[in-house]
Amino acid sequence: MNAPWKPGMNGQRDPFHAFVCDDHSYDVLRAVASELGWAPEKVNKGGMRNAVQSLSITASPQILFVDMSESGDPLNDINSLAEVCEPGTVVIAAGQVNDVRLYRDLVASGIQDYLLKPFGADQLRDALAQAQAVFMAPRDAAPERPHMTTAVIGTRGGVGASSLATSLAWMLSDKHKRPTALLDLDVHFGTNALAMDLEPGRGLTDAIENPSRIDGLFIERAMVRASDTLAILSAEAPINQPMMTDGGAFYQLLEEFRAAFECSVIDLPRGMLIQHPHLMGDVNVTLVVTELTLASARDTIRILSWLKSNAPQSRVIVVANRVHPGAPEISRKDFEQSIERKVDVLIPFDLRIAAQAAKLGKTLAETAKGSKVGAACTAMLDAVMGAIDDGDTAPANGKAARKKGDSLLGKIGDFRSMLPARRKDKTTALED
Ligand SMILES: Nc1ncnc2c1ncn2[C@@H]1O[C@H](COP(=O)(O)OP(=O)(O)OP(=O)(O)O)[C@@H](O)[C@H]1O
Ligand SMILES: [Mg+2]
Repeated sequence: MNAPWKPGMNGQRDPFHAFVCDDHSYDVLRAVASELGWAPEKVNKGGMRNAVQSLSITASPQILFVDMSESGDPLNDINSLAEVCEPGTVVIAAGQVNDVRLYRDLVASGIQDYLLKPFGADQLRDALAQAQAVFMAPRDAAPERPHMTTAVIGTRGGVGASSLATSLAWMLSDKHKRPTALLDLDVHFGTNALAMDLEPGRGLTDAIENPSRIDGLFIERAMVRASDTLAILSAEAPINQPMMTDGGAFYQLLEEFRAAFECSVIDLPRGMLIQHPHLMGDVNVTLVVTELTLASARDTIRILSWLKSNAPQSRVIVVANRVHPGAPEISRKDFEQSIERKVDVLIPFDLRIAAQAAKLGKTLAETAKGSKVGAACTAMLDAVMGAIDDGDTAPANGKAARKKGDSLLGKIGDFRSMLPARRKDKTTALED
C-alpha cells in the first residue's frame, strides 16, 4: 500500500484491523484475533468502504483484513485503499468470487492473500501467520535514502523563489518519484498552494497556533495533497495581526517531515533567516535564487556570507532567474566576479511560460516542458540531486578561488566597478 505521507512508524501501529460484512466472518475473526492476543474490537462491521474511511483518518495497522463481498469494482476499490493505507501494511482480502483471474489481479495490486468465503478458523490462522511473517521480514525494497531538505531563498523580493520552490518540489515528486513535502514559510503572502491551484487550508496556521499538536498524525491530516507523492503545508494567515511564533512549530514540522517523506522543500523568505536562523540547521541544500541586478548582487553576497557562517553543512546552489536575453543589469560574468563564485543555473525570463503556468495552476517547471526554461529547471534539479549524491555537504559557496583573508562582505563595494559609469555614480551614494 502506498500512502506516502504517513509517518509509518511500525512501533505506533496497531497489529490488526478487520472490516467484514457478515456475522460468520465477524465471529471467526474476533475469536482468532483474541487467540493471537489482538483486541477483538478491532474487528469492525462494514467492508471495503468502511476500511477506506477509517484508514483515511487513522494510522494503518500492521495487518489489515478487508471483506470485499460488497465491493462492486474490487480492483478499483483496492486502489482507493492503497491511497490511504501506509506502506508496509499487509492486506488480506476476502470475498465470494471464486475466480483465479481476480485472485491474480488482487495479488498484483499488493494484496497478500485472498480468502474465499465462508472461511474457517484454520484457514484464517494460516493466512494471518503468513501475513505476520511478511510484515516482520526485512524489506527488500530499495535501500533507504537519507532524507533531503532543500531551502529556497530569494535574494530579493519577486526574483521567482516561490516559482522555483514549487517547481523543485514538483520535479522531485514527479520525475524522481520521491515522496516530497513542500513547506511555504511565507505564512501571510505565500503562493505555493496558489501556484498549484490548491486551497492552503488551515494546516500551517494550526501548527503555528498549537505547536504541541504537531506529530505524524497531524502531518498526515493537515497537509494538502497535490499528488500521490507531493504534499503542501502553507497558509494565508490573517494580515491584521502579527504572527506569534518563536519558530518552534516550523522546526517541529521539519522534524516530522523527516520521518514521513524523503524530501522536504522549504520556501524560505529571506527575512526568516534573520528571525529563525535555526531553521537552516538541518538543511542539506540551499538554492539561492537571484536576478542579475545590482541589489541582488549585494544581497547574494550577504546571504552567501550568512550561510557560510550559519549553515556551513548546506551545499549552496546559486540560481539566476528571470534573466533577460538582452543585456541584464549586470552581466553574468560580472555578477559571478562580484559574488566570487559561479552562477550554477541560469533560467531565462519567459513571460509566456510564467503566464501559462499561472493560468493552468501548474508549476513553472511543469508548464515549461520542452522549452529553455524547462531545460534550466531540469539543470536545477540535477544540481540539487548532484549536491546530495556527492555526499559532501561542505559549503559550496567558497568554490570560486578566493584569496586568503578576503571577506565576501568586503567585496560589496567592489562590484560597483562592474557597472557602467552612469550606474556607478548613482550607487556611490549607497556606499556612504
Ligand atoms: N523565469 C521566469 N520568467 C518570467 N517570469 C517568471 C520567471 N520566474 C518567475 N516568474 C514570475 O515572477 C513573478 C514572481 O515570482 P515568485 O512569486 O515566484 O517570486 P518570489 O521570489 O517568491 O516573490 P516574493 O518575494 O513575493 O516571495 C511571478 O509572477 C512569476 O510567475
Ligand atoms: Mg515567494
